[in-house]
Amino acid sequence: MRIAHISDIHCNYGTDFNTKMYDKAVKQLNKIDADIMFISGDLTTDGLLQEYELAKEKLKEIDGKLVIVPGNHDERNLGWKLFPEFFGETDFIKDYDEITLAGLASSEPDKDNGRLGRGRHKLIEQAIKKNDKMTVIGFHHHVIPVPNSGRETNIIDDSGETLDIILKNKVPLVLMGHRHVPWAVKIHKTLLVNAGTFSCNRTRAHFGNTFNIIDIEDDEIEITVVNIGKDKQKKMVKFDFEEGECENKYYDSNLEI
Ligand SMILES: [Fe+2]
Ligand SMILES: [Fe+2]
Repeated sequence: MRIAHISDIHCNYGTDFNTKMYDKAVKQLNKIDADIMFISGDLTTDGLLQEYELAKEKLKEIDGKLVIVPGNHDERNLGWKLFPEFFGETDFIKDYDEITLAGLASSEPDKDNGRLGRGRHKLIEQAIKKNDKMTVIGFHHHVIPVPNSGRETNIIDDSGETLDIILKNKVPLVLMGHRHVPWAVKIHKTLLVNAGTFSCNRTRAHFGNTFNIIDIEDDEIEITVVNIGKDKQKKMVKFDFEEGECENKYYDSNLEI
């Protein structure tokens, strides 16, 4: 199974949205034949109606099944009321052939930091218990600090409890965004993965705009980072989630590609 993990598109009529980069990214994305396109929030910059309309139009260019959770920017200016109108439910459990995916809204209106809360923790537990399929959890904010992304400010308020549920239940894969840099780290039997920004001009140093390709086969997860501007791919992580072994190229070399 292949998941394209996209984040932080930031549709906007100001300086955030890089239309050319978006168009280039979509061409690359449509070639990789992913089963699911998971978008971990920040589809807009200010949560404005015209940004939601733009995002809806732009997402039509992507071929495939889109699964979307909101980010902190999507909740600004009453955008939290628009998100369900445009993209459907914000918290859900979806079943696919090989995985059960729990998507969660980690944002609060007009706040940059995130929080899941007890209701969403219950949803995580429900997804874990639902069947024997591999559980994947996806939300916008990060659950532990992400390097190369500046001073830590916006981690979810209940990160301790969230991490505890995820690690104790050996959830193999957690997908996040928000920090505009790609990253992955394994803790115990869990791989925590951040996608960089797909098409926002606010990139960091030479990381550029990126998305992640996640290949899941039997007991193995492999993650590749696509540098959109350079049209180049680099393997980031190979993780055997049964054995817990993890080869992480992030620590072996510079991720800039
Ligand atoms: Fe963002
Ligand atoms: Fe964000």
